[in-house]
This record gives sequence, structure tokens and C-alpha cells, in this order.
Amino acid sequence: MLELGEGGKGVRRVERYAIVSLPKEAVMDGAVAKAELVEAAMREAWRKLESRTRDVAMALPASTVITKKVLLPGSATDAEIEAQVAADANQMASFPLDEVSLDYQILGANAKNPNENDALLVVTRKERVEERVAVAEAVGLKPVIMDVDAFAILTAYEQLAFQLPDHGRGQTVAIVDVGAQSTHFNVLHDNQLVYQREHALGGNALTSEITRRFDMTQEEAEDAKRKGLLPERYESEVLQPFLDAVALEISRALQMFFSATSYQKVDHILLAGGCAAIPGLDDVVHGKTQTSTIIANPFAKMAVSPNVRARQLASDAPALFVACGLALRKFDPA
Ligand SMILES: Nc1ncnc2c1ncn2[C@@H]1O[C@H](COP(=O)(O)OP(=O)(O)OP(=O)(O)O)[C@@H](O)[C@H]1O
Ligand SMILES: [Mg+2]
Repeated sequence: MLELGEGGKGVRRVERYAIVSLPKEAVMDGAVAKAELVEAAMREAWRKLESRTRDVAMALPASTVITKKVLLPGSATDAEIEAQVAADANQMASFPLDEVSLDYQILGANAKNPNENDALLVVTRKERVEERVAVAEAVGLKPVIMDVDAFAILTAYEQLAFQLPDHGRGQTVAIVDVGAQSTHFNVLHDNQLVYQREHALGGNALTSEITRRFDMTQEEAEDAKRKGLLPERYESEVLQPFLDAVALEISRALQMFFSATSYQKVDHILLAGGCAAIPGLDDVVHGKTQTSTIIANPFAKMAVSPNVRARQLASDAPALFVACGLALRKFDPA
């Protein structure tokens, strides 16, 4: 959980944040499998956060949504648009329309036919939204936005594009979100999303290896890896092979991107997600891919509240990437 506020002169400020890890079995394939575990983690994070705000923006994992660009007539009434969007959604979803939750965003006039608008339609199972809303409400929070993590990444990226030469204009940038179960590989060209793919490798693999090697429970392993409290042979025998595996997966992801598209190079790799907090991952990825690699810090141009430890924030920043994209969202107060 992350709260952003106003730091004056149009600058945002990191007010507070809290990170609590979720047991592996709490969320399975994007579905809340054990609501009581998710609730407990959220309650603990909320307690640690010590915020007075109850409005929250949340995100669905990209794997639970289907997105598609559709054409909508420019002159249509709201009712006509609703009807067409429902028809499109019905085609996209493999389940009944009354189980669908959908939303769309008009992107602008279609290049070939200016009488029509390009729109991005997002469809998910209602259940995926409702189970998340239910957990937040059980903790006393008020969900005001349900986003998608892959979109939140793009929102957060806007905060750090300034660190790239020419603000990323004309360049190809891979944002690699290395999470717990999976790695999301997103490529932007000229700051527009051009490619997306999910790879099944994440920090859980490292945690499992720690439990096996050092005879620890899941929780002990999770805690020990974050704090770096492990026997000396951990670095060479467990951590290094994991970093190599991540770098190899990223270099494979790049090859797949090159063969699936007409792009032949990536100018920068931005590492985000919890695993990007592991010191040295950027060097290993750079060594393997021979591509400039940066640890994503979405707070680089934000102010930081005196209540937040700046050093700790610097190391947690990549893990807060999605949360940052969510906290940047605006909504109309009810
Ligand atoms: N300081 C750290 N050192 C090592 N690993 C870390 C650190 N902080 C977080 N992680 C690891 O990062 C992973 C969590 O990352 P993140 O919060 O991005 O995942 P997620 O979005 O919940 O998962 P997914 O995207 O796979 O659904 C966990 O495996 C966690 O152990
Ligand atoms: Mg993630």
C-alpha cells in the first residue's frame, strides 16, 4: 500500500507506504483463493500504513483480463455505445455476459476513418472484481478504482521517462516486471505500448529454493531473503543461479519480441517488481543482454515525507511500481 500526496509546486510526495507479503496460496491464477489470508495481509498493511485515507485504487492482474481495440462510431449516443461495447465484450469473453465486468476508454479518432473512434475495451469476470472489492471492504477500505496492473505500470512509467535520453521519445524501452509468480514483459516504442507477454518465472522460485536448501518455512525464507540473513553459500549457490535464470528469461523474452515484431533492438531495459529490489540484478541482466539496464524508480522526481525513510524507499521503489501507478490515478470524490 502506498499513499501519495501533494508536495507543493505540482510535485507529488510519497506520504507513506507499507509492504506485507502474501502467502503463496492466497491468490491463485489471479483469483482470490483464500480470502481470509488476503484480508489479513491487507489489514496488517493498512495498520502499518497509518493513513487516514480510506479510498483505494486496486488492480487486477493482466492475466485475468482480455483487452481489445475496437471501433466505435463517433456520433453514437451513450446507449448505442453501451450496446456495441456489450456485443464486442460478448464475443471476447468465453463466459456469459452477465458474468462479465467491462470498461472501455476512447483513445481518439481512427486514423483511416475519422468518423469512428478507436477504443480500448477491457473485459474480465465480475467475480475477479467483486472478490477484491469484498476483501477491501472487509478491511474498512473503499475501492474507488479497479485498474489493471499492466496499465498501472504504464502510468508509473510516465514518472520516470524523464530519466531516459529525450524522455524516451523515438526509443524502444522494455519494462520488465519481475514479480512473485511471473514476469511481465512490456515493450514501449515512442512511449506507446507495442508488445506484452507473461513469462512464468518470479521470486517464488527463489523462495522455494531457500526453503529446500536451508530447511526453512515459506515465511522464514521470504523474510530471510529480503533481509539478506542467510548463510554465506546462499549468494553463490542459490542467489546467483536465480539471477542468471532471470537474466536468461529476459534475454529469451527479447528474442521472442524480436521474432514476433519488426523491432530488432531495445534501447533500455527497466527492471520493476519485487525482484528488481535484489541488489545486482541489473548488472546480471546487462551482462547477459548487452542492453542498458536501469532499476525503475518511479519516485525519482517526487518529494518524500519526513516520515518515510528515503534509503529504504530507494530499495523498495521497484516493488512499489504498480502501487505507484495506482496511487497516481484520479477519481471524482463522491
Ligand atoms: N528486497 C527484496 N529482496 C528480494 N526479493 C524481494 C524483495 N522484495 C520483494 N521481493 C520478492 O519479489 C516478489 C514480489 O514481487 P511483486 O510484489 O512485484 O509481486 P506480485 O506483483 O505480488 O506478483 P505477481 O506479479 O507474480 O503476481 C516476491 O517473490 C518477493 O520475495
Ligand atoms: Mg506483479
